[in-house]
Amino acid sequence: MKMRTVINYVRRMTNSALTATGICFAYGGSDVLHDVDVRLDAGAITAIVGANGSGKSTLIEILAGVRRPREGCVERSGDVALVVQRVAVPEALPLTVREAIAMGTWGRRRPRREVRRSVDEAIERVGLTGFARRSLHALSGGQRQRALIAQGIARGADVMILDEPAAGLDADSRTRVREILADEARRGRAVGWVTHDHDDIAHADRVVHLVEGRRVAEPGVPSQRRANRMG
Ligand SMILES: Nc1ncnc2c1ncn2[C@@H]1O[C@H](COP(=O)(O)OP(=O)(O)OP(=O)(O)O)[C@@H](O)[C@H]1O
Ligand SMILES: [Mg+2]
Repeated sequence: MKMRTVINYVRRMTNSALTATGICFAYGGSDVLHDVDVRLDAGAITAIVGANGSGKSTLIEILAGVRRPREGCVERSGDVALVVQRVAVPEALPLTVREAIAMGTWGRRRPRREVRRSVDEAIERVGLTGFARRSLHALSGGQRQRALIAQGIARGADVMILDEPAAGLDADSRTRVREILADEARRGRAVGWVTHDHDDIAHADRVVHLVEGRRVAEPGVPSQRRANRMG
């Protein structure tokens, strides 16, 4: 059987929304990802963990289709929303919170009324209702992160991938981000997120652990639990 046929077969047998197989990547001549397999399942949260420089951001950019792997393939059953790490917003940029969140829907062909409804819902889900008309640069760091998450939610993608969306936020904001993502998973989305937070990892359904660009078994988890959580 050809690789693609095998992957489609596995996907039908499971709940996989995204399957990456044998991913290798190099910046210039230096390899940073080596033969990495990842599966993101519908309705599940997958934490992507590892030390600084282990290849997490590079990996999720490949999963989202922003970068092409040198080797390996990524099969996606639908659209992917990528929520990037905090962005600096120039003060002169005349962009409201609502407009920024609506940008998440760009490139998807949907009726205007439906887009408006999904933007409103995303704003409410991240608790930014009172801030919708505010300028994006006039938000605090935590609020801005939630606006970026709302951008992903408004897209209505089957797969949502986030790069440390709660980094630098206080405990309450981190809990809030975790709850938003759990809610997204409950609604059937496949969620993959890069995080260093122990509580986030404990709440994930699966863990992908990278060490120097290689996927390794998750340390410190009893073998049965680990077997269940390796996706
Ligand atoms: N644009 C680039 N050009 C060259 N090398 C890069 C580039 N981006 C990342 N790297 C290198 O690739 C490796 C993986 O980087 P990556 O950003 O994917 O790691 P990370 O796990 O996301 O790290 P962090 O936790 O610090 O965000 C690192 O060694 C990094 O120096
Ligand atoms: Mg990173």
